[in-house]
Amino acid sequence: MMPSNDPHIRYSIDQSVCIIQIARPQKKNALTHTMYKALADGLKEADADSAVKVILLRGTQDCFTSGNDVNDFVATQERSTERPSVQFMKALANLRKPLIAAVNGLGIGIGTTMLMHCDLVYAAQDSFLQLPFTRLGLCPEAGSSFLAPNIMGHQRASELLLLGERFSASKAKEYGLVNEVLDAQQVFPYALEKAHTLAALPSEAVQTSKHLLKRNQNGPLEETISLELVNFARLLQSPEAQGIVQAFLARKSS
Ligand code: COA
Repeated sequence: MMPSNDPHIRYSIDQSVCIIQIARPQKKNALTHTMYKALADGLKEADADSAVKVILLRGTQDCFTSGNDVNDFVATQERSTERPSVQFMKALANLRKPLIAAVNGLGIGIGTTMLMHCDLVYAAQDSFLQLPFTRLGLCPEAGSSFLAPNIMGHQRASELLLLGERFSASKAKEYGLVNEVLDAQQVFPYALEKAHTLAALPSEAVQTSKHLLKRNQNGPLEETISLELVNFARLLQSPEAQGIVQAFLARKSS
């Protein structure tokens, strides 16, 4: 694989597992445009590389990702479908190879919605997740308004997506978003072990099975991502959302 174009996104190969790491710990692994691009490129390359059988996404030891860099939520930014964050969402949705996530610390916004695209998710006992969109004056993204109710049912998805409160890894497991909750130190080694187990299986059988499992969601998922983007862009322009974004940025610069 080519090296990553962003120093905060790292690719490595462990036998036939491609590990993609988000590593910007001083900013809680918040994702900038170039990080999204490097994530999207890494996923696409790993998916196309015949030496890779499984992809494993991780953050750092105390943080998965705090989501979109809030600086990119300022009103003047144009939000077209070509944005790197959209490329990342589409790369996630279109992967042929299995995708595993190892979650330590916090996963906020896309740090939670990307898990809905993963095939296996392992999370630390002390980690928490959050879908804070309504609290920011925004709406769901990355297809989560379609994927969340599919994974956990309408009421549970509404609880997480409308109230937008933090929830624990054990609640995420109860709701079907996480496979196993583990000690923080165990999350990455355990996820890697499962990745190797999967990588050792006949890859055509694994990829065909993944395709069959996800077959029904492809059309509606793409349509949902597009619809969410239109609404997200509209809401982002609202005085309410801009006030919340500016308050976060002002808090940080004061
Ligand atoms: N975008 C940009 N910067 C972020 C960020 C984000 N999503 N999340 C954290 N940071 C930055 C902070 O601004 C701070 O930078 P500074 O040290 O230069 O001031 C640094 O990361 C550490 O964050 P801090 O808020 O001091 O840590 P904390 O442990 O008190 O809180 C969070 C961590 C993640 C709960 C809090 O930072 C937060 O709420 N972030 C925003 C999450 C969010 O709304 N994401 C968008 C989802 S759509």
